[in-house]
Amino acid sequence: MSKKEKLSVDSYKGVRDFYPADQAFLNYLLATYRRVAERMGYVEYHASVLEPAELYKSKGAENEELVNEQTYTFVDRGGREVTLRPEMTPTVARMVSAKRRELGFPLRLFSIPNVFRYERPQRGRLREHWQLNVDLFGSNSLAADAEIIMVAHALMKEFGAEQNDFVIKLGSRTFLSSLIEEFALTEQDSKRFVGLLDRRAKMPADEFAAALNQIGIPLERLSPNTVPQDVTEVLQLLASMGVENAVFDPSIVRGFAYYTGIVFEVFDTHKDNNRALFGGGRYDNLTALFDDEPITGMGFGMGDVTMHDFLSVRGQLPTYIPPTKLYLAVADKEMVPHALSLAQDLRTQGVATAVDFCDKKLSDQIKTAAKHQIPYLIVIGSNEITSGTFVVRNLASGAEESLKRTELSAFFLNL
Ligand code: HAM
Repeated sequence: MSKKEKLSVDSYKGVRDFYPADQAFLNYLLATYRRVAERMGYVEYHASVLEPAELYKSKGAENEELVNEQTYTFVDRGGREVTLRPEMTPTVARMVSAKRRELGFPLRLFSIPNVFRYERPQRGRLREHWQLNVDLFGSNSLAADAEIIMVAHALMKEFGAEQNDFVIKLGSRTFLSSLIEEFALTEQDSKRFVGLLDRRAKMPADEFAAALNQIGIPLERLSPNTVPQDVTEVLQLLASMGVENAVFDPSIVRGFAYYTGIVFEVFDTHKDNNRALFGGGRYDNLTALFDDEPITGMGFGMGDVTMHDFLSVRGQLPTYIPPTKLYLAVADKEMVPHALSLAQDLRTQGVATAVDFCDKKLSDQIKTAAKHQIPYLIVIGSNEITSGTFVVRNLASGAEESLKRTELSAFFLNL
């Protein structure tokens, strides 16, 4: 093959390769997501990344931009139209509807799927991301809305955030619907109204006011000081659970057409990352796609990319520590069987150990261990084998300690 025929090593546009340190960070996020969700009384479910395309096309599930421009949809070999899930909510609504008689309500579910959207890749936005979904089904109580927002709050705290690091902005689709009704907006104007609110933060105030005036809704009806009843109640419940950083913001509407009640977005307050981190809301009718008696849902989706940015801008990304604790280098080829035997002995005692058997200079073996960021190294030579004493070297500090073979596992297990 000539040089120009070689394949590119780049990953597909907008998706990521996860090298060990990236994967370790993702695992840290997922473990944190799982720990908090379970502590709050939620149980895990999962589903395939493949869904029939009609799930996203049906009325009620629709977010026009998402369905028309952002889904990965293809026809399979049997002629079926298939979509890689762009979000989890229609899937979980389908699963809950399918087993509505067996499942007990209120039902608290969480999942951590990867989801796919054909978006323009930019800061915080990729074409594949991992998204924690936490949803509560079958309760109309505003306590359910408060609980879901509490889970969001608890997650931020678990990631080390203080209350002034983020703000939870609540909106109300019920309130917007009452305005739409009061001012008798046409369907087209209702859509323009919701779209306008969604873009409010990104446009100059006078431009927003002019556009709102055109639709026919007075600006003062969108004052943050006139808090709708449902938002007031949720804010009170949240305050009783110690949440001090939740506020009403009338321009929080969220993109999906399925939201019907409280909606919310969590914002980073850091000056270099002043953006929405994640959000969700109540959706009363999504399961009506499958059954005549809808089951109400309330939940949110929290992506890994925005959480990475939140931690990174504060210098709070965890340092990568590989799971391998010990590297065995060999003084010469004859030592390989001894190294393998010691490694196996240590592994059975729970010490994660790797052996270098590549017949390289000792200095190169040490460099390899350092590249892998493995913290400790032992050189296996004939002296070590005959004496049964090994020098454990800390690769970062250079400190050395001589230990008997029988003392090795205790040393590593007590680190
Ligand atoms: P969403 O706002 O579209 O809502 O996505 C939820 C979160 O996923 C976002 O706030 C962000 O953290 C992350 N996210 C979304 N798109 C991208 C992207 N292209 N790249 C990186 N991260 C992204 C939903 O998906 C709803 N289904 C959430 C929900 C669950 N509502 C009720 N239950």
